[in-house]
Amino acid sequence: MARAYRLPGRAAEAEGALGAALWDASCEALLEDGDDLVAVFAEVVPGGAPGDELTGERDDAPAALPAVPPGGRWEAVDERDHVAAYFAGLDAVTVGRVVVAPTHRQALLQAGQTVLWLDPGMAFGTGHHETTRLALAALADPDLDLRGKRVLDVGSGSGLLAIAADRLGAADALGVDVDPITLPIARANADLNRSRARFEVTDFALAPPAPGGVDVLVANLFAELHEAFMDAYARALAPGGRAFLTGILAGKEDAVEAALPSSLRLVRREREGEWWLLAVERVAESGA
Ligand SMILES: C[S@@+](CC[C@H](N)C(=O)[O-])C[C@H]1O[C@@H](n2cnc3c(N)ncnc32)[C@H](O)[C@@H]1O
Repeated sequence: MARAYRLPGRAAEAEGALGAALWDASCEALLEDGDDLVAVFAEVVPGGAPGDELTGERDDAPAALPAVPPGGRWEAVDERDHVAAYFAGLDAVTVGRVVVAPTHRQALLQAGQTVLWLDPGMAFGTGHHETTRLALAALADPDLDLRGKRVLDVGSGSGLLAIAADRLGAADALGVDVDPITLPIARANADLNRSRARFEVTDFALAPPAPGGVDVLVANLFAELHEAFMDAYARALAPGGRAFLTGILAGKEDAVEAALPSSLRLVRREREGEWWLLAVERVAESGA
């Protein structure tokens, strides 16, 4: 049985420390219900501490409840209700020219915008996370013309970024992910969007692409992985090629920048919330 933890009047804090604390407590979804913030937990282990009784229940034993911030109350919820509410609450996300919309929504496009249909699933990447938005914005930047370019998405998850690259005119868009569960999801998302983006299960650490084979590389991973992959990024990129590295938690961006080899030059840094993206360029360098 799923449980919901309702915090009256706290909906505005979903993106702040309160929301972060609820995610840390392993909630599955955060919903705004009017002014209330509601965190949904999939399962609660029976047999918890006294005083943890759930409101609104008669039959269930007291449960061991997750450690959540004070000020709220527990409710029993029907699993189907919370999934339905989660879907119903999902809005389209607009990043520059790209609108990412769940399939139950209508997408109202302005001139020059394109829509990508994408429902949340088991793979990361719906456009609702800051890091995905930073990466999408970099790909959709009008100053970066993807037409005719070879694009590699390292850690493709749902496939959104590779699909976006294809939609933005890339000659070839390949997504690689170490997690096999992502492959059918990314391919289904490509089919849904009639995209030519290709996907493979690959551990980038073990199988980086051919030298110079990529014009644009996008990677939404995490800081330490970027540091480890830096030389492989440099080798993969053609001279003048760009890499967009995100998933970098605030405070770690300097370390990632410090790990740039001489063949990669920092172009800019972008921040959204607690997350950074570094845009770098492969310099034409003999022997690199
Ligand atoms: C944060 S998700 C990014 C998903 C999507 N690209 C986005 O931006 O929303 C990171 C993805 O990287 C994948 N990943 C982690 N290590 C990897 C590796 N060594 N090689 C390839 N993919 C990797 C994970 O399986 C996960 O799907």
